This record gives sequence, C-alpha cells and structure tokens, in this order.
Amino acid sequence: MSIHGYSQFPQKRMRRQRFSKFSRDLVREHSLSAKDFIYPVFVLPGETQKQEVPSMPGVVRQSLDILLKTAEKCVQLGIPALALFPVIESEKKSEGAEEAFNQEGLVPTVVRRLKKEFPDLGIITDVALDPYTIHGQDGLINDQGYVLNDETTAVLCKQAVCHANAGADIVAPSDMMDGRIGEVRKSLDQSGSSLTQILSYAAKYASSFYGPFRDAVGSAANLGSGDKYTYQMDPANSNEALQEVALDLKEGADMVMVKPGLIYLDIIRRVKDNFAVPTFAYQVSGEYAMLKAAAEKGWIQYEACVLESLLSFKRAGADGILSYFAIEAAQWLNERG
Ligand code: PBG
Repeated sequence: MSIHGYSQFPQKRMRRQRFSKFSRDLVREHSLSAKDFIYPVFVLPGETQKQEVPSMPGVVRQSLDILLKTAEKCVQLGIPALALFPVIESEKKSEGAEEAFNQEGLVPTVVRRLKKEFPDLGIITDVALDPYTIHGQDGLINDQGYVLNDETTAVLCKQAVCHANAGADIVAPSDMMDGRIGEVRKSLDQSGSSLTQILSYAAKYASSFYGPFRDAVGSAANLGSGDKYTYQMDPANSNEALQEVALDLKEGADMVMVKPGLIYLDIIRRVKDNFAVPTFAYQVSGEYAMLKAAAEKGWIQYEACVLESLLSFKRAGADGILSYFAIEAAQWLNERG
C-alpha cells in the first residue's frame, strides 16, 4: 500500500490537488501583489509634521516633506498609486468650501510636487467637500442642513479641474451627488484635461466604519451628530448599487469603487459580474482599526489575517484595493517573492 492509502471510495477527492505545495501553487485561482494596492495618505500642511492617528495605530498624518519619503517607498515597493486626503486647517473651512478649488491650496501643491519627483507614481485625489466645509458634510447645505445636489456638483467640478491642473492622474469623486460624474467629465474635457481619469465612488455606503477616517482628517468634530444618509447608500441595499454604477459609467467614469470593502464583498462581485469594468475596493479605516486592534490584543495573527483580508477582495473580483495596510502588505509579499 502506498503512503496515500488504498481506497475505491470516494472517486473524486478534492484533497488530491491540495496534497503537495507545487500542486496548491498550480491550482491557485487568485493572487496578491504590490501592484494591486493604492495607498491612502492623510496630508498635513506645513513641514516636518507627523501625527499619529489614535484610532488607526500605525497610520500617520504627514506633511509634504515626509510624504515624499513615503512616496519613494511606494515606488520602490511597486505600489502603483497614492490616494491623497487632506487635513485642512479650521480657518480655511467655510460654508462655500472655497478652499477646495484654491489652486495654491494643500492638495494642488502636494500633487505638483509629487508628480515632479515621482512622475510614474499615480496620484489620485479625493473630490468631495467634507474636509473644506465647516459642517463636515460632503457638499453645500441649505438652511435645513440638506446637502444641495446641483450646487455642490458645480463646486466639485471646480475642485476636479483644480486637481487636474495640478497634475492629478485620477480624480475620485467620493461625494455621491447625482449626476456629478457627467459634469466633472465635461469640466475636465473643457479645461484641457481629457486624459485625466475618473474613479467614481459609485457604490459608497453610509457606513459606520468611516469613524477613524473622520478622526484622521478632522471632519468628525465638524460633522458632530450629523449623518450622510441623504446621499450615501443604505447598507441594506444591493440592486441600488448596480443602478449607481450604471449611471456613473454612462456619465463617463473610467473605474468604479465599492466602499467599504470587506463587509461589501457581495457588491464587488455583483458589480464585476454585471459590468466587467475596472472595479476597486476601499478597505476603510474602521476595517483597518478592527484588524489592527485584534492583532494588538494577540487575538489574531496579524500578517496572515491582513493578507487573507486583502486576498478576499481579489477573489470577489476587485482589480485594485485601497488599503492602509498597502505598504506593510507590499513588503511582506515582496519578501516572499
Ligand atoms: C469623504 C470620505 C470618507 C472616506 C473617504 N472619503 C468618509 C465619509 O464619507 O465620511 C472614508 C475612508 C475611510 O474610512 O477609510 N469624502
């Protein structure tokens, strides 16, 4: 009898292909690499500024000089792109969010410098007004606090053009206003930025997992007890995500995003199956905090669980993953070869 034993039953043994490592390697359906990641960064004004984000251990807010070193690390690791999220000083926040389209503001300044130093590193900017409004909503509001759709869209267009003029490769509207992708596309084309891509946060849910992010960019205090239920999607809905994606694609989105990530893997799969377009997933701040906290307590294995969580996005159909783990994960993956 061989080491594998002798039996006529069952005829089909799924464990056959799992028996040897070479075979497991051969039949593996999905893989992860540094090229799958987009690294989100919180950008501070000034110089030599580096602040820990208490609810996201290991994540820092950083000023441009420090960010340049982070960007260099991403290039070395093979991470294709950075996504910028600015921390705006409270004096610069206003009702009308004018700082959002200030060509000399923080985001355009940082984009210009990053593109100059690292021309091949993709730069993605967030198009939404929440860092710039005194109330922390993603758009302009009326007397009742309702976020005004078309008025907000007009400002988002100015913001997107401002980012594109600075050299952003991809603008990413994360605001969930209706019709904004078409308007942003038109504004970019009319201002000579017809090659600037649009990554639309097409299915963005009104999630409670954004908490640590709002701490990081300082919009939590501005938002107070406010919520975003009148524009972000209801976590109970799935078909609605397909409508959102269909509209954004029709309006000219080049890529779409599903957000949050891990708890919306079903949505990623449906979007990919229905539209077969570049689909991205955002492993958001609350997901990062969850994994990090459990690992810090010694309750889960950090590296293995983080990599398994990232792989799940690929299995669900995502082409790329925004994750605060990007740098660490790329290091682990590159070391393994
Ligand atoms: C807002 C924005 C949010 C995130 C990215 N852009 C938060 C929100 O909608 O309130 C969350 C990202 C994260 O939690 O990591 N435009």
